[in-house]
Amino acid sequence: MLLVLSQPLVSAAETPHIPTQIPGRNALLMGADWYPEQWPESRWETDVAMMEAAHFNVVRVAEFAWSTMEPTEGHYEWGWLDRAIRLFEKHHIAVVLGTPTATPPAWLTQKYPETLRVETTGQRVPHGNRAHGSPTSPKYLELCRQIAEVMAKRYGHDPAVVGWQFDNEYGYGQMSYDEGTRKQFQAWLRAKYQTTSALNEHWTTAYWSQTYDDWSEIPIPVGGNNPGLMLDWKRFTTYAWTGYQQNQIDVIRASAEPRQFITGNFMGMWFDAFDHYPITKPLTFVAWDDYVGTGHLNPVANGMSHDTMRGLKRQNFWEIETQPGAVNWAGVNNFLDKGEIRAMAWHAVGHGADEVSYWQWRSALNGQEEIHGALLGPDGTPAPLFDEIAQTAKEFADAQASFRDTGVVSQVAILNDYESRWTIDWQKHNSQFDVLGIATAYYGALRKRAQSVDVVSPYAALDGYKLVVAPCLSLIPEALAQHLMDYAKNGGNLVLGPRAGMKDEYNALLPQRQPGFLVPALGGRVEQYYALEKSFPVSGTWGSGEVSIWAEQLKASAPDAEVLLRFGQSNGWLDGQPAVITRQYGKGRITYVGGVLDAKIMDSAAEWMIQKSGVIPAFGAVPDGIEVSRRVGGGKQVFLLINFKPESQKVSLPRPMKSLLDGKDVSAVDLTQYGVAVLLDSKPN
Ligand code: GAL
Repeated sequence: MLLVLSQPLVSAAETPHIPTQIPGRNALLMGADWYPEQWPESRWETDVAMMEAAHFNVVRVAEFAWSTMEPTEGHYEWGWLDRAIRLFEKHHIAVVLGTPTATPPAWLTQKYPETLRVETTGQRVPHGNRAHGSPTSPKYLELCRQIAEVMAKRYGHDPAVVGWQFDNEYGYGQMSYDEGTRKQFQAWLRAKYQTTSALNEHWTTAYWSQTYDDWSEIPIPVGGNNPGLMLDWKRFTTYAWTGYQQNQIDVIRASAEPRQFITGNFMGMWFDAFDHYPITKPLTFVAWDDYVGTGHLNPVANGMSHDTMRGLKRQNFWEIETQPGAVNWAGVNNFLDKGEIRAMAWHAVGHGADEVSYWQWRSALNGQEEIHGALLGPDGTPAPLFDEIAQTAKEFADAQASFRDTGVVSQVAILNDYESRWTIDWQKHNSQFDVLGIATAYYGALRKRAQSVDVVSPYAALDGYKLVVAPCLSLIPEALAQHLMDYAKNGGNLVLGPRAGMKDEYNALLPQRQPGFLVPALGGRVEQYYALEKSFPVSGTWGSGEVSIWAEQLKASAPDAEVLLRFGQSNGWLDGQPAVITRQYGKGRITYVGGVLDAKIMDSAAEWMIQKSGVIPAFGAVPDGIEVSRRVGGGKQVFLLINFKPESQKVSLPRPMKSLLDGKDVSAVDLTQYGVAVLLDSKPN
């Protein structure tokens, strides 16, 4: 029997550091993504001088410029980029260089068609969009390595270049479904399982005559397939993108000075094409692209996305792209309201961003994104939002020293497991079952009370947290169960949500009831789960309300297991049965929530969790609709308050603080809608 953990346990002894803040540069940076190759050089200095005058101090360039860098095979043109970099230097703007591998040029894909991805239909993608390169094509990897290496040799010592971004949103293009990739997948499986009989056992391939006698028989899953095969294909996908990334890291690290960082631009908590924890491991820090699309800034969902990105490496991050007003790809590309763009930038800082960059400075006059939001109009003069962004950039510059060496510290963590997400999404059982929606409901109710929440891998060290909530952790192999039990035994409060502990690391059912290896510690178990067509009532210690979409009939077997909620009249099976049970375990506690709670019950559940685990918000009570964030470190504590209600609100501070945006000492602040207060507390706890 093969017993390997899919991810190693992360050591608790990590030294905290803030690699997102670059020595010699402001601790908070603001900038734009800009494409000099799209504009006549005679215009460049006008743009760069405008950036400097607007207090911008970082720019990202070149990530789509392959055809300008290497117009024909092996013939490079660097003069334009050299001159652009010197211009940024002259205007005190730090440069982040993107490697251009999301957009291989036409000569390349024409000469080497095997570098193009093959879609699930068997068709090669045509040239003309982006992300058309195959991450598993040996020829494409060779060509990516070459261009990255030439760039790194040229700019790896450039004083104006502070770091590198690989590719662009890799994983956004799909995997390639060609025969070569299939062979790589088979080789990966062989290295993992050693024998086909081990694979057959873990995947239970006796079911539907799926038995594999030879590695070459194993397909790439397209559509539904064996759950073990599907999970391993996703792991292989992570492995392939990690390799795609490492291919460039190796050559950049070989030539670049260690002070130059390496990052990638990720896509927030919603994007799950690969497991982000292993993939972000070799990066200096995480950067992500934060777009609202249709609608307005939702501080809960966007906040959780920031916290998920921060939790990937448990470090500050960069918001390396964000929308200047509107995008071009959503259902309705509405503009953010006046004031909302500034609030969004400070909101990011509150959650751990040390940089905010707008995509993009000015729209190319042609190309797929002609009518995306930009800071300048097509005539090259500022759009109406420019002043708001420039004001925010000035505020960043003025306040930056107070943010030096500060990060976000939380007492509460939510566990995010990509593998559990995938496996539930493949077998929703109720089409409305929404893993992220459920996690966001817990996050919102807890964040309001705790004023800070981390979102981390279940394999992370958990000992610093007073409360850990695992909303839908369906995969709990034995070693992970032990890790969670150790956390509770040593005084932690562990809350498991629906579908916990149903499966092992092969996506196979555990031969016991949920939550599997945690049943003895919980002193209870799930007798049966039910997909619900309608809501059912629940009541108990958390008050009364409803459970919808999913319900689990629990049983408390240990005498000291306590029932917190019971179902009312439901489907007969659930009537009067426990819906939530809790039990003290060691110095801590394990609680199991067997259903999807409505907002009212979720609110009292969160209150109970916060009280039981002794979580104390650092700022204290604020009116509804005010979001509080805290950055702490280097002997400083800074609070950020943002009003997300349409009406003005007054917030009394727990003690007088210095308002960094106007330099006043204040004991209360008045905030209009999207109003922001940044408060330096001279008495950190
Ligand atoms: C991002 C992408 C950018 C730009 C932007 C438009 O996902 O990285 O290059 O396309 O979307 O919103």
